[in-house]
Amino acid sequence: MDIQAHLNPAKLFSAEGLVVVITGGGSGIGIAIASALYQNGAQKIYLIGRRLNVLEEAIKTLESSTSAPKTSSPVLVPISCDVTDQSSVAEVVSQIEKESGYVDVLINNAGVIGPATNLYKPTSIAELRDTMLQGMASNEWETTMKINTQAVVSVSATFLPLLEAANTRRGWSPGKVTGDGNPRKRDTSNLPEGVDGDDDRLAQIITVASVASFMRYCTAGLAYNASKSAAAQLGKIMATFLSEWGVRSNVVCPGPYPSGMTNHIEGVYGTSQVPQGRKGNIHDVAGIFLFLMGKGGAYINGSVQLTDGGRTSVWPATF
Ligand SMILES: NC(=O)c1ccc[n+]([C@@H]2O[C@H](COP(=O)([O-])OP(=O)(O)OC[C@H]3O[C@@H](n4cnc5c(N)ncnc54)[C@H](OP(=O)(O)O)[C@@H]3O)[C@@H](O)[C@H]2O)c1
Repeated sequence: MDIQAHLNPAKLFSAEGLVVVITGGGSGIGIAIASALYQNGAQKIYLIGRRLNVLEEAIKTLESSTSAPKTSSPVLVPISCDVTDQSSVAEVVSQIEKESGYVDVLINNAGVIGPATNLYKPTSIAELRDTMLQGMASNEWETTMKINTQAVVSVSATFLPLLEAANTRRGWSPGKVTGDGNPRKRDTSNLPEGVDGDDDRLAQIITVASVASFMRYCTAGLAYNASKSAAAQLGKIMATFLSEWGVRSNVVCPGPYPSGMTNHIEGVYGTSQVPQGRKGNIHDVAGIFLFLMGKGGAYINGSVQLTDGGRTSVWPATF
């Protein structure tokens, strides 16, 4: 290791030049990620959600802020799309292919809370039965699994060619590379402007799961916890089978953060709930995503990052 190399956190933890897609990018954690990347040099950030007006409002808020960077062309792009509608997702990929040609990082962040199942309130076995069945007859369970779990696979799959294109742009050879002692080859002789020879980041999928992926004490709902456990597991499985294809996969598991999903919950916690005593904030989001996406995160692959103020340490959980 060259211990005399210049180490500048503003370069190591930067989104400079990145093309990023964030599903569920118009509110809560999604728009907070976008803010961190926007302020730190991202070239293009595609925000995907079903409600175009929500995306447009969020973009206006970021662009009109004193923290907004001075850029000659728009960085934040809203795209209306339901992640469970495969043909719409394919159209989004075509649009981004035409506009940018590649995607450095795909963030699977869209999610819904699903049917509430308060398992600790019932006082009779019949009440518990009915609580456990909540959301099944109405298809809410199914919808939750489709958005929170199935779409992690379908959206990731559909973006793979654009993720590979990002690798090719950084000089990596494309395609499947297998076997011991046989690394993927990289030619740095003809890199485009803005890509350094020592910046060997491979394209990346980041899946936003949850502390609910690991909780045995279930507060959010059975469907939510099941869907998020599966999402975290899929993020790990992808890291393994995509390794031969040069695409990284990491998982971020937030504890309580302010968002459309949690705004009704008061953000004060005791040490037996969240040792940090509060919900996550914009610094916490920026810290973890700039770490994973910056040059300093190139060696992170197949990891599960908790950002929960210690919640998983003090509740019955399986992390
Ligand atoms: N906030 C927390 O405490 C917390 C904790 C752990 C994990 N998470 C996870 O963080 C992620 C973001 O949630 P959030 O807390 O920021 O809640 P949020 O503000 O409700 O954001 C969820 C976003 O997902 C989008 N979305 C939902 N279904 C969609 C679909 N079918 N297609 C496209 N977009 C869809 C929503 O936009 P549209 O409705 O316009 O489509 C919305 O912008 C979720 O995966 C959630 O499970 C949150």
